Amino acid sequence: MMNNGIKKIGILTGGGDCPGLNAVIRAATRTAILKYDLEVIGYIFGYRGLYNNEFTNLTLKEVSGIEHRGGTILYSSNKDNLFDYTVEEDGVKVKKDVSDIAIENMRKENVDALIIIGGDGTLTSGRDFARKGVKVIGVPKTIDNDLAVTDVTFGFNSAIVVATDALDRLHTTAESHHRIMILEVMGRNAGWIALEAGIAGSADVILIPEIPYDINKIVEKIRYRESIGKLFSIIVVAEGAKPKDGDVVVQKIVADSPDPIRLGGIGNKLAYDLETLLVENEVRCTVLGHLQRGGSPSTYDRILATRYGVGSIELLNESRFGNMICLKGTHMSFVHLENVIGRNKQVEPNGEIANTARSIGISFGD
Ligand code: F6P
Repeated sequence: MMNNGIKKIGILTGGGDCPGLNAVIRAATRTAILKYDLEVIGYIFGYRGLYNNEFTNLTLKEVSGIEHRGGTILYSSNKDNLFDYTVEEDGVKVKKDVSDIAIENMRKENVDALIIIGGDGTLTSGRDFARKGVKVIGVPKTIDNDLAVTDVTFGFNSAIVVATDALDRLHTTAESHHRIMILEVMGRNAGWIALEAGIAGSADVILIPEIPYDINKIVEKIRYRESIGKLFSIIVVAEGAKPKDGDVVVQKIVADSPDPIRLGGIGNKLAYDLETLLVENEVRCTVLGHLQRGGSPSTYDRILATRYGVGSIELLNESRFGNMICLKGTHMSFVHLENVIGRNKQVEPNGEIANTARSIGISFGD
């Protein structure tokens, strides 16, 4: 038991998955059991499990051998907001606030506190449960790295490792055929994946949501490279990038999702537009998609996720309820969820990292 009376905790993972979720679950469970002698359960399918009171006991055996595994052993949903939840009443689907049912379920199972692992949507619900007096600690997850306050979210490094490898592979085939190769990466409305993978993967052009592009500038860059004997070019484009005089490309609308817009398609649009202007150059597009979210976490993410897992339990022990564990420089820190929610962290167009790219001749198409 902790000094503040906490004996039993619940862990849940919400939103889109990413590499490192299992490493957080393992580290939090091990710390809770080995250091504080707590009982630990994991809710199945995120908040849906909390509502249905569906959980599994997390023991040392249960979390053994999962640090390196992608996905989440607890499953995850990005559709279940218990403050605006779809239920069926008299055969009709209606939206309701069912958060009190979830709180009652916690009370029935004697769950004293929750570790909530997720991005903005999942942590918003975490904040809302905290406002209702539930003892919540948040853990920042997303490949997009767009959560405010924390320096890095776990999952991001694994995604840029995959994207960088893809760029390395595109380089060799681009060079053989003198082609223009476009790689479309994820990231929603933030360009972190494109920017960092683009620098690491020696891209010639990086297009991000924060810097709308002018296609003529991209053509200029390709022509300049040809003038110095480089007859191929590599472009990395974030799914949320858009031309100066245009809008983002929406791939689909997921109607029952609290955040329904799914971006995607800008890579193929750009390939078409460039081929029209360049005429004699062949342009090809590769969409990396969910490969960025699947598979094993990188070494960096395993360590960061483990630190977050341990840190989240320490925050519970310190009674810092309603806070999220985060990374500040080289140290674990914490921030109140009220100061995290809804504050999308974007690339600064003239910040140090974007200027680093500019200094080595990378074009942002601006
Ligand atoms: O937020 C993570 C992310 O992978 C984004 O980069 C992407 O836009 C979105 O989720 C895709 O969502 P889904 O898995 O629902 O297609």
